[in-house]
Amino acid sequence: MWNSTNPNQLKGEKEKGSKEKVSKVRGGLAVKHLKISEAQKVYELYDFKEEIGHGSFGVVVLATEKASNKSWAVKIVHKNIAGASKLTEVDREIKILKTVNHPNIIYLDRVYESPKKIYMILELCPRELYAVWMDRKPFSEKMSKKVILQLADAVSYLHKTDIVHRDIKMENILLADNPADASDECFIKLTDFGLSIVKSGVGIQSLMSEYCGTVVYMPPEILAMKTYSELCDVWAIGVIMFMMLYGKYPFMDKTEEKIRAKICHDEPDYKDSGVGKEAVELLKDILKKNPVQRITASQIKENPWLSNKQHKRKEQNIVDMMKQFATESSPTGPRVRGLSILSEGLIQDSSTRLNQQKYVKRNESSHKTQEKKR
Ligand SMILES: Nc1ncnc2c1ncn2[C@@H]1O[C@H](COP(=O)(O)OP(=O)(O)O)[C@@H](O)[C@H]1O
Ligand SMILES: [Mg+2]
Repeated sequence: MWNSTNPNQLKGEKEKGSKEKVSKVRGGLAVKHLKISEAQKVYELYDFKEEIGHGSFGVVVLATEKASNKSWAVKIVHKNIAGASKLTEVDREIKILKTVNHPNIIYLDRVYESPKKIYMILELCPRELYAVWMDRKPFSEKMSKKVILQLADAVSYLHKTDIVHRDIKMENILLADNPADASDECFIKLTDFGLSIVKSGVGIQSLMSEYCGTVVYMPPEILAMKTYSELCDVWAIGVIMFMMLYGKYPFMDKTEEKIRAKICHDEPDYKDSGVGKEAVELLKDILKKNPVQRITASQIKENPWLSNKQHKRKEQNIVDMMKQFATESSPTGPRVRGLSILSEGLIQDSSTRLNQQKYVKRNESSHKTQEKKR
């Protein structure tokens, strides 16, 4: 569906000295995963230049493909240094990137794997949204709209294919050159799928409870240690939208404890004469504490402020009210988007019930990692 925007077409040739495994077809394009006996092979094909990023897995290096003179970002993972849990994340990221195909999701061209290292050849993004935000915050409504529309489109695409990103934050949104419009400053690419999961996958029950994002982007249902769904990604879109429009985090304080309390109990401060009523209304719909009331990623795209369709909102509300009436009158009680509301006000789903101990352990260690990174 999105083939035309992919920077590369499938290359039919098989490289010498490598075992080729074209694992998944992605809308007519496949990602090659080439097993190589030694890393030298990659250096014969690409000119490696400066480091352009680093993470817990290793480094990202700018490289030019010798045959085409095309530049790529190469994520290099040292298997021994990365450790077992990081390797699982890298493996998960590769598997997911092999299947996705969307203009606002980072494009994985191919993977080279030697006994010691993994090289992910990714489309090169020259800028980071977070760095631009630090420079130019707050963003205008026009710029914020552009980013949110693309992000909501990418996230609704992921959710339709049962993928939950689980680590949506400004730092994981990169900016690329728009091939269709050279003047476009905010052509986004959602990246870093290390914590993503496929909802229908094996072991999904524990994975859905091991949430591991950064605390400022965490929704209340995670912090209250209830179970959660893909709507955690929607909450993160709301945090990013607030950050862009107001130039600050919606929930911020001196300690993590206080931030958590604010996320669970306080409303963000929406008072700012510069931000329009419609944008605030949308923010309130996204940052609903109760995920059952939170709008979905595809509903965000339909929002009148974003889509400039003024007339739609009223009709939407009537349809929503009818839907709500229908679910509430159901003999099995209200069930919305796979979540059931229990009498104590807790939200649970038998397929994704929280393993609290696992959650706390994973979350604490992940927070430490995030803090270290800063
Ligand atoms: N495709 C890319 N183009 C340019 N820079 C990238 C690309 N992918 C990653 N980076 C840089 O490397 C950093 C870490 O990569 P990321 O995939 O987010 O790993 P981590 O899981 O450690 O956060 C990013 O914040 C960014 O600066
Ligand atoms: Mg990252």
